[in-house]
Amino acid sequence: MTFDRKIKIAPSILSADFADFGREIRAIEAEGADWVHVDVMDGHFVPNLTFGPPAVKAFRPHVTGFMDVHLMIAPVDPYIEAYAEAGADMITAHIEAGPHPHRTLQAIRATGKKAGIALNPGTPAEAVEYLLDLCDMVLVMTVNPGFGGQKFIHSQTAKIARLRAMIGDRPIHIQVDGGVDPVTAPLVAAAGANVLVAGSAVFKGGSVADPAPYGANIRAIREAAEAARR
Ligand code: DX5
Ligand code: ZN
Repeated sequence: MTFDRKIKIAPSILSADFADFGREIRAIEAEGADWVHVDVMDGHFVPNLTFGPPAVKAFRPHVTGFMDVHLMIAPVDPYIEAYAEAGADMITAHIEAGPHPHRTLQAIRATGKKAGIALNPGTPAEAVEYLLDLCDMVLVMTVNPGFGGQKFIHSQTAKIARLRAMIGDRPIHIQVDGGVDPVTAPLVAAAGANVLVAGSAVFKGGSVADPAPYGANIRAIREAAEAARR
């Protein structure tokens, strides 16, 4: 995949119907999702549990495009290969998941997958300065990770702007995750984010039986973000 900084919408299947992932994934892609965002939680790094590698492997055949796997787990290194084999295109690990995020990014790159580093709200932008050469994406969490449907933390837009300046011309995406909707999307897009994760704001009002609201929600977020860049 060639790099560009166009706005991409990455619906989080954390807000999908957990009994129907195959159809939910196909529905969001048909309705205009650019990437499919998979939130992996371990009940330790974050207070919630979601998908092991076999679940992610089961999602893979339903994803036509790019599968973006956000690992909220610690330790993370022992599981990187399993999530790579499960079919992730991007693997994002948290900088707070252990003392050696540089090694973690090397391990992700060694699998041949794109590598992302995620920052909790309390972690400064400068923490990634010496990691950027190993990154295809920096993920700025705009909620404390663990649950969908939380309120956007406004202080994080300044972090996005700092990262945007640090990154300059390098081919590194800035992703935002947590509380993104048509109201907050312009704030993060104006600050420099180009990949917007959204769970509740994409899935609200729709279902696999009636997926049109997914499309309307994706378009509303995209249009709000694009308008803020002009
Ligand atoms: C939070 C997850 C998010 C979450 C976003 O820990 O990483 O991807 O699903 O959900 P919303 O968009 O509902 O805040
Ligand atoms: Zn996420």
